[in-house]
Amino acid sequence: MKIVVPGGTGQVGAILNRALTDAGHDVVVLTRRPGRAGDVRWDGETLGPWADEVDGSDVVVNLAGRSVSCRGTAANLRAMMDSRVRSTQVVGQAIALAARPPRLWLQMSTATIYAHRFDAPNDESSGILGGGEPGVPGHWSYSVEIAKAWERAQEEARTPGTRKVALRSAMVMSPDRGGVFDVLLRLARLGLGGPVAGGGQFVSWIHDRDFVRAVEFLIDRDDLSGAVNLAAPLPVPQRTLMRVLRTAWGVPVGLPATRWMAEIGAFAMRSDTELLLKSRRVVPGRLREAGFTFDLPQWSQAAEDLVRRVRDGAGRAA
Ligand SMILES: NC(=O)c1ccc[n+]([C@@H]2O[C@H](COP(=O)([O-])OP(=O)(O)OC[C@H]3O[C@@H](n4cnc5c(N)ncnc54)[C@H](OP(=O)(O)O)[C@@H]3O)[C@@H](O)[C@H]2O)c1
Repeated sequence: MKIVVPGGTGQVGAILNRALTDAGHDVVVLTRRPGRAGDVRWDGETLGPWADEVDGSDVVVNLAGRSVSCRGTAANLRAMMDSRVRSTQVVGQAIALAARPPRLWLQMSTATIYAHRFDAPNDESSGILGGGEPGVPGHWSYSVEIAKAWERAQEEARTPGTRKVALRSAMVMSPDRGGVFDVLLRLARLGLGGPVAGGGQFVSWIHDRDFVRAVEFLIDRDDLSGAVNLAAPLPVPQRTLMRVLRTAWGVPVGLPATRWMAEIGAFAMRSDTELLLKSRRVVPGRLREAGFTFDLPQWSQAAEDLVRRVRDGAGRAA
């Protein structure tokens, strides 16, 4: 298949590009800074010669969007919104104009669309979308608004010949440098991998192998469209996530951090506490109903596999 991946130069793009190329597919990455074989220039906002790559392709997987690992300033929040909505709209325009449109458009979304909650897991049918929770910081609600606008941009695209799926993905755990797992492991190795603000907030995650398998499953299953959660079936509280990771690496202690310490740490890392403090309890309702099974459903298995691959130096080039 020819698979076009707008924004495929980041962590998730590296994972998909490796796996899909190894499986024998022709992968074309749309990027603002082409440099590698298979890269094609686009600006993420306007139609251009890049649209020829979409015409005649089999699948488009749009990953583009300004990184969310940054301080929640007004300018950054606006850039997060605009980069996602505009790139999705222009991908939709390219598909709509194609003489031979792709049969599938996988559009990245996020598990962050669900409410901050502890009481019950969120699947696609009974889950509660966020934005209206009492007492959460304003920019958490804005992140949910970004996710909703992102999905709406795909829904509103007029692409009748193309099946559309929104990937509500949890944190994708891979050994790649700069990815989420890399950051968590570094904190654990520094002795800082303890509970944050009590550590009861849930972390939804998905192992990179299962992420790729889920994407391949969605490519094959013509009957599935709309929003699909990509998350392991067993989200864990943050304190458990870090304890299991410390055990896998062999770090005896992890200092606990209070909410204000997390604020300072996030500031120092040019990031935002939402990534640490929001309770994301998201489960793969539709994937499981459709018969998808996870290779690594338990965090302990996933953490051991990822630690082994980090020690082997696998996938560390990103
Ligand atoms: N990583 C995760 O665990 C995870 C989980 C859930 C959802 N997501 C979402 O999935 C997508 C991919 O994740 P990722 O971790 O691979 O992100 P990433 O490493 O930040 O990569 C995203 C890519 O988007 C492109 N981009 C950035 N700003 C842009 C802009 N203003 N206009 C157009 N393109 C822009 C960049 O490509 P160029 O600079 O090459 O143009 C970048 O490589 C993101 O939208 C992210 O929010 C990620």
